[in-house]
Amino acid sequence: MGYALAASVLAAGDRVTIVGRDAARLAAARKQLQADGPGIATAVADVSEESAVERLFAGTGPVDHVVITAVDATGAYQHVSVLDLPAARRLIDTKILGAALVAKHAAPTMPSTGSITFTSGIAAYRPAPGGSIVAAVNGALESLAAALALELAPLRVNVVSPGWVDTPVWDAIAGDGKAARLGAMADRLPAGRVGAPQDIAQAFRALMANGFITGTVLHVDGGHRFI
Ligand SMILES: NC(=O)c1ccc[n+]([C@@H]2O[C@H](COP(=O)([O-])OP(=O)(O)OC[C@H]3O[C@@H](n4cnc5c(N)ncnc54)[C@H](OP(=O)(O)O)[C@@H]3O)[C@@H](O)[C@H]2O)c1
Repeated sequence: MGYALAASVLAAGDRVTIVGRDAARLAAARKQLQADGPGIATAVADVSEESAVERLFAGTGPVDHVVITAVDATGAYQHVSVLDLPAARRLIDTKILGAALVAKHAAPTMPSTGSITFTSGIAAYRPAPGGSIVAAVNGALESLAAALALELAPLRVNVVSPGWVDTPVWDAIAGDGKAARLGAMADRLPAGRVGAPQDIAQAFRALMANGFITGTVLHVDGGHRFI
């Protein structure tokens, strides 16, 4: 999703910094994206480490918009009876505390017209057995955004809540069963397909652009909440 957003920003002629934990992966993404336009920078940072987040925004200088798609959900999909505490903590650290740390260090560098957008997810609305911690984290992230929309105003803080979207995250969740799992969901969804990263990128851009939307959750889920 982050990659699709970067491609969209570059295609519009704007500048973007993409962030992740792995310099080699970032370099590969940058090389692929460069074809879409000039103006891309990379930065290595783990959003769950405050010193790294602080360094990140000291290095970028002022930014107009920040979108956070980082997640480390490795091992987090577990029945509560076999809850893996380190895995749950990694998820909480990346998705909730990471988002809070980014807000803390990004906001002072941003213009009053700027925006911060988090990424929650359908698990908060259609929880499934084995997904309790993921559901809780997505729900909590939306509450965090609502509170920050007041605390950081007039900076706007919003959330995109994706449904099932065909991204690399599914390789970790479903492995070889990825195509079958996504295909079965596509058959059930009102939209008749699962999401593409570009669907989510468009939603991020809408929230970045619309100066009157704050404290809002934008559902981009193909109707998943109603099945
Ligand atoms: N795909 C779906 O069906 C779906 C559905 C609902 C919600 N979501 C949510 O949408 C968001 C984006 O998901 P996605 O599918 O685009 O995931 P993805 O393809 O796995 O991308 C996640 C990105 O986060 C980076 N990352 C992970 N941990 C990080 C950390 N600690 N610090 C900095 N970067 C970190 C990863 O790069 P490195 O590993 O190189 O750091 C990777 O680029 C997530 O919050 C996810 O929970 C996804």
